[in-house]
Amino acid sequence: MGEVDQAFIQSIQHRANLDTIEIEGIPLINLSLSHTTDINLLVSEIGNACKNWGFFQVINHGVPLELLEKIKVAAKAFFDQPMEEKRKVKRDEVNPMGYYESEHTKNVRDWKEVFDFLIKDPTFLPASPELEDDEMRTLSNQWPENPPQFREVCQEYAREVEKLGYKLLELIALSLGLPSNRFNGYFEDQLSRMRLNHYPPCPCPELALGVGRHKDAGALTIVAQDDVGGLQVKRKSDGVWVPVKPTPNALVINVGDIIQVWSNEAYESVEHRVVVNSERERFSIPIFFFPSHYVMVKPLEELVNEGNPPKYKPYNFGKFNVARNRSNYKKLEVQNIQISDFKII
Ligand code: OGA
Ligand code: NI
Repeated sequence: MGEVDQAFIQSIQHRANLDTIEIEGIPLINLSLSHTTDINLLVSEIGNACKNWGFFQVINHGVPLELLEKIKVAAKAFFDQPMEEKRKVKRDEVNPMGYYESEHTKNVRDWKEVFDFLIKDPTFLPASPELEDDEMRTLSNQWPENPPQFREVCQEYAREVEKLGYKLLELIALSLGLPSNRFNGYFEDQLSRMRLNHYPPCPCPELALGVGRHKDAGALTIVAQDDVGGLQVKRKSDGVWVPVKPTPNALVINVGDIIQVWSNEAYESVEHRVVVNSERERFSIPIFFFPSHYVMVKPLEELVNEGNPPKYKPYNFGKFNVARNRSNYKKLEVQNIQISDFKII
């Protein structure tokens, strides 16, 4: 067993099984409309993937492939720098954007380092999670001087993936029988953020995880990953951890907690985690689509009725986001806020 700080050690039931197994993976969907001339076919593929898996991969997604390559190169160049250089843009309690190397998921430290930035800069956010406090604060990005072009590549990539985000939200809306633009208004002052993840090789992959099991709190997540692999999804049908196979030129999509609430659980946000290995470093680049801070998240009226009453009480996304982010900095004594706190039993 290698030398690993106690803070990284997962409890026994959450450790990875590192045996490789071939099992049925998440769906792969071709978004090109020349591939299917019938949009309804595509909409039903998306709907089935959201319903049965909460996860899928897409190809022909419209994000230029050379940009996908460029962002991976930029991520590596950034994380390859000495710690001293990365610490110049280190995030703290005042500014949660920038570099960070000791994030915790469910109070266990993740084997990774990250760089975070906002899609909309600046962004306004509640100053505290307290409901009666209506003070706001401004969040803005911190950009490193090096590597050169880092900022430009990140921003260009984010702009392209944002377009794909809207396209997917439209397809998901259609798959729920809603008008295609039903979700768009919620993102006018979006709190969306992009993250570069670096998972260094780990001496004890059987004890630690790159990211512990969690669900994404946003509406939708779009992830670019390299060819190393490590992302695993908890299969809805039987709870088995299924690897997401790295697929050339594909992006990984998952439904977050907000779509679970909007759809009144027609679609569920699914648990996932990242397994590390002792040989190869891994890079991944998620964009988390978050609505505006003033959005009250609740089951959509069109999707509830007498026979299917709302399963959640409304919650303010800005307040929720602020409360949730507190656990990223330190171990909390109690479990952090979850959408289940708003569940109507
Ligand atoms: C995340 C996440 C997956 C990955 O950062 O929320 O689930 O493949 N990342 O890095
Ligand atoms: Ni995630």
